[in-house]
Amino acid sequence: MGRLPEGGIAVITQVLVLNGPNLGRLGIREPEIYGSVSFDELAELCRSTGRALSLHVDVRQTDDEAEMIGWVHEAADARMPVVINPAAFTHYSYALRDALAMRTAPLVEVHISNPAARESFRHTSVVAAVADGTVAGFGLVSYQLALQAIAELLAERAKQAERTQHADRAQP
Ligand code: DQA
Repeated sequence: MGRLPEGGIAVITQVLVLNGPNLGRLGIREPEIYGSVSFDELAELCRSTGRALSLHVDVRQTDDEAEMIGWVHEAADARMPVVINPAAFTHYSYALRDALAMRTAPLVEVHISNPAARESFRHTSVVAAVADGTVAGFGLVSYQLALQAIAELLAERAKQAERTQHADRAQP
């Protein structure tokens, strides 16, 4: 993905980076935990990280569970990979978990802080089991690592598809 196939056109993959409640207040929200960088700056960091990986990154934030679920459905219908920081939804939203379970492309859960090292209600993630993996505790670098993981998962899938095609062609 993102590479120029021989004689073909470049394929830029669109990735959604979804952020849940209160993350729009990054920079002023508990800066000792979440840092002093604003949400707009985080969005720019994700877009520039995406560009370096040949990914087109669309960053969104909502405080509304229904809107978040709508975006997850949109991603599933369009076979779009997702990086999601579900924020507090992580710990209790079975509705979001069920929406994410319908995914049709790579999915990485991300957290700025390390929920495992915080209050006990944060130790449960109801979405973790439907994701490819989780990156937590590295501040905003968590998002960069999550995008890198998406790029690796897409490259692996592309290689697998190529192998299957070759095997089909080799059939008598
Ligand atoms: C968070 C961790 C959650 O427990 C919390 O509710 C958040 C942010 C994080 O990025 O560290 O809102 O997802």
